[in-house]
Amino acid sequence: LMRVKIPEGLHKLPGPKPLPIIGNVLEVGSNPHLSLTAMSKCYGPIFQIQIGTRPVVVLSGNDVIRQALLKQGEEFSGRPDLYSTRYISDGKSLAFSTDQVGVWRARRKLALSALRTFSTLQSQSSQYSCALEEHISKEGLYLIERLHSVMKSDGSFDPFRHIVVSVANVICGICFGRRYSHDDDELVSLVNPSDEFGKIVGSGNPADFIPILRILPSCSMKKFLAINARFSAFMQKIVKDHYDSFSKDNIRDITDSLIDHCEDHKLDENSNVQVSDEKIVGIVNDLFGAGFDTISTALSWSVVYLVAYPEIQERLQRELNEKVGMERTPRLSDRTELPLLEAFILEIFRHSSFLPFTIPHCTTKDTSLNGFFIPKDTCVFVNQWQVNHDPELWKDPSCFNPDRFLTADGTDLNRMEGEKVLVFGLGKRRCIGESIGRAEVFLFLAILLQRLEFSGMPGELLDMTPEYGLTMKHKRCLLRVAPRPGYAS
Ligand code: HEM
Repeated sequence: LMRVKIPEGLHKLPGPKPLPIIGNVLEVGSNPHLSLTAMSKCYGPIFQIQIGTRPVVVLSGNDVIRQALLKQGEEFSGRPDLYSTRYISDGKSLAFSTDQVGVWRARRKLALSALRTFSTLQSQSSQYSCALEEHISKEGLYLIERLHSVMKSDGSFDPFRHIVVSVANVICGICFGRRYSHDDDELVSLVNPSDEFGKIVGSGNPADFIPILRILPSCSMKKFLAINARFSAFMQKIVKDHYDSFSKDNIRDITDSLIDHCEDHKLDENSNVQVSDEKIVGIVNDLFGAGFDTISTALSWSVVYLVAYPEIQERLQRELNEKVGMERTPRLSDRTELPLLEAFILEIFRHSSFLPFTIPHCTTKDTSLNGFFIPKDTCVFVNQWQVNHDPELWKDPSCFNPDRFLTADGTDLNRMEGEKVLVFGLGKRRCIGESIGRAEVFLFLAILLQRLEFSGMPGELLDMTPEYGLTMKHKRCLLRVAPRPGYAS
């Protein structure tokens, strides 16, 4: 390991003493969000660990994270070159790859504009405010039918298994202009066993940092490679079909609009960077991948929390009865009228912190933070879980209490409190799907809660311990659902 020369006036980062070869892998353990939060209490909000021989800077605390990602955003906006991320989208991912800054910026702008255009697109039917609302409403109602039929045949249902197909269909609608049946084996198997993906790309996977681990046989790694290969094959087929039926006069979805961009080389008009066609059309891989896993994890956790806190489920249903009634399906515009549901979602984001770290960042040049020197190309973990459980920011952080996000009289959302929750990252790498993500979690939940009542299996305890990964999932479980009075199945 090279000795780093610290410029005068700056300090060396504190942190635990590393062991030869493995560094601090043992202390980091299998729940890095917990171990690195505990270390921040000992070493402060900026400290350094070593995974293998590679130094990693860990950031915690609202102030330090805001300083790094907002005020010094440019310097902390890189992505590290990690072993596992080379396999995601053949190393061409917008979110994970180490694209040079101009290329990443051009791709991100294109992705944002495509998402915005195709989610706010006018719906064919005046019943809906936009295409996104139409997709979510329809998928929400299909999901309800599906859950009723699974209940009739099996007497219980696995929440993630069904929710993920509905959520994937919303993003498929926007990206590919099509949906899949809940029985479609290809889609169901593609979106369901993604746990291995999350485990490998979650911050702190030792094989990313210790080369010897890459040549040892690893069952997780094999599954991870297989998932990536299957994902690529699925996407390539869809993209090929789009190229074959492409017509400039009829841009049907995001895939078409990206193909159109390649044909026109529109990207090159305003910038000097050259981005290959493959990297432009490949943006759709990121949108699809990020668009189903995050939202289905959030919704599946929501259902588990509803079961764990039946009195909150009842209050949410009362709010829906009063503000929306039973005569019509909830809409996106009901958001301002349903503060308790909004507060519940914020508390799910905070309490579960199911994205415990952002995707790893990397410094783009030598820099300093709070007087500590951080060299160029240093890998940086941003601990969102710590911020969401910091006793300096939250009263009783381990307690699940949506009321913390309501005003004192309980009738309105306390937006300032809501802004303290950190789940979408911040600054230059902030999630580009945030508004779609928030809208989707809200509308799916409103539709489900209006018509259904969720409960656990009699005599079985719910295990709420998250399984660590890029997105932390709850353990697979079986639940029950019944139509609410007034809604026959
Ligand atoms: C990045 C969270 C939904 C697309 C991220 C990051 C987080 C995040 C934490 C990393 C930020 C960083 O590295 O600092 C979430 C959550 C979601 C969600 C909690 C839902 C509840 C979506 C959706 C899409 C999306 C629906 C697209 C359709 C992306 C992309 C990036 C990203 C492309 C990479 C941005 C970049 O590296 O420049 N998201 N996300 N996300 N997200 Fe999301």
